[in-house]
Amino acid sequence: MNVCVIGTGYVGLVTGATFADLGNEVICVDKDEAKIARLKRAEMPIYEPGLEEIVRRNLEEGRISFTTDIAEGVKRSLVIFIAVGTPPKDNGETDLSQVESAAMEIAHHMDSYKIIVNKSTVPVGTGDLVRRIIEKHRRRLVDFDVVSNPEFLKEGSAVYDSMHPDRIVIGAPSQHVAMALLELYAPLEVPMLITDVESAEMIKYASNAFLATKISFINAIANICEKAGADVLLVAKGMGYDKRIGTEFLQAGLGFGGSCFPKDTLSLRHVARKLGEDSSLLDAVLAINEDRVPRFIRRIEARLKDVKDKVFAILGLAFKPNTDDLRDAKSLEIIRLLQEKGGIIRAYDPVAMENAKNVLQNVTFCKSAYEAAEGADAIVIVTDWNEFKLLNLEKLRQKVRQPIIFDGRNIYQPERVRKYGFEYFSIGRQ
Ligand code: UDX
Repeated sequence: MNVCVIGTGYVGLVTGATFADLGNEVICVDKDEAKIARLKRAEMPIYEPGLEEIVRRNLEEGRISFTTDIAEGVKRSLVIFIAVGTPPKDNGETDLSQVESAAMEIAHHMDSYKIIVNKSTVPVGTGDLVRRIIEKHRRRLVDFDVVSNPEFLKEGSAVYDSMHPDRIVIGAPSQHVAMALLELYAPLEVPMLITDVESAEMIKYASNAFLATKISFINAIANICEKAGADVLLVAKGMGYDKRIGTEFLQAGLGFGGSCFPKDTLSLRHVARKLGEDSSLLDAVLAINEDRVPRFIRRIEARLKDVKDKVFAILGLAFKPNTDDLRDAKSLEIIRLLQEKGGIIRAYDPVAMENAKNVLQNVTFCKSAYEAAEGADAIVIVTDWNEFKLLNLEKLRQKVRQPIIFDGRNIYQPERVRKYGFEYFSIGRQ
């Protein structure tokens, strides 16, 4: 099938690469000329395991191409995915301007029947908005349908997730339209659910808000564990054995960051309020999350008394492991708060250093965790990279000025770290 993907961010690029790998002719469109030039040379704009390989292979075999010319992409394809950015506005509402302008451009260049698919995470009602924009701006009276097909991939395992999704959700105006999408996804052999457009849009928000709720829930439990002398890891494990609860997304820590959970939960709350519905559950989920870092800093301050002129080794900058993404990363908030209080920052991340250099000031970027720990008054673990779990604690202790670890992700066994002479503070346990 001929497929066009508008937007070469995480979702767009991975979607395009996946469809090409499944044997389709894919044309990826982006306004950013430099990015498209790099993609033509199989240079990835993001760090994502396996992505470069798959793009390179499909470029060589002629199934994927990159262009800034949206007209070409629209004309050549039956199915057009909109996978542009949907950032939040200050009030939590989703900024749909990029979706609107993509819809407008599709309308201008449509020359035959098209299926336009919203892949970006958009609030309920956006499918209808896209349909109205295209109806109003199409230059030829050609038919089209608008479908919602949300993406559930996670950064760091995006390629794997898009090849092995738990389910495919297709919100289509008719069975006939849904069939075209079913055909596209058929090789994946995974459960597919066909719904109306609005339900598909809600499935995406409800899923992300539910996962965010799970994280805030376990973090609220962790707070109680700290006071009650319980161990949140054991509590989560014990809860997780109940199949109705499940083991995943019960990791207590510094809270959820990244490009999706914070923004999507805010957006769903905005939609609820706009529709006159109670948003108190989502309010609580967000409030718990917003207090994760301030609470962690309060603990650091309680131990060190004065943060001023203390040296902190920040281990991990990316919002989670296996990505170089810093969007809503807890590291940025932690570094900002420590710097405001006069703390001195040394930092290391296995892959996010280049991105971090563009957004952080007055930070000494180090080549390894050991280098970051040199002369530190405290080691602060922010991202649960495997590399940090395997550090030589003896060597680490020799580097620091004070052997104190604040572990925001519970990556170590407390007894083990203490055996190496560290004072150890983690989340939801002693
Ligand atoms: C998420 C959804 O998982 C994905 O389905 C959706 O398409 C996009 O949003 P992503 O943001 O890439 O994916 O990362 P994810 O692995 O879900 O983690 C999100 C945040 O939650 C991270 O900051 C992570 O550290 C945090 N988290 C996750 C926890 O604090 N505890 C957990 O148990 C799980």
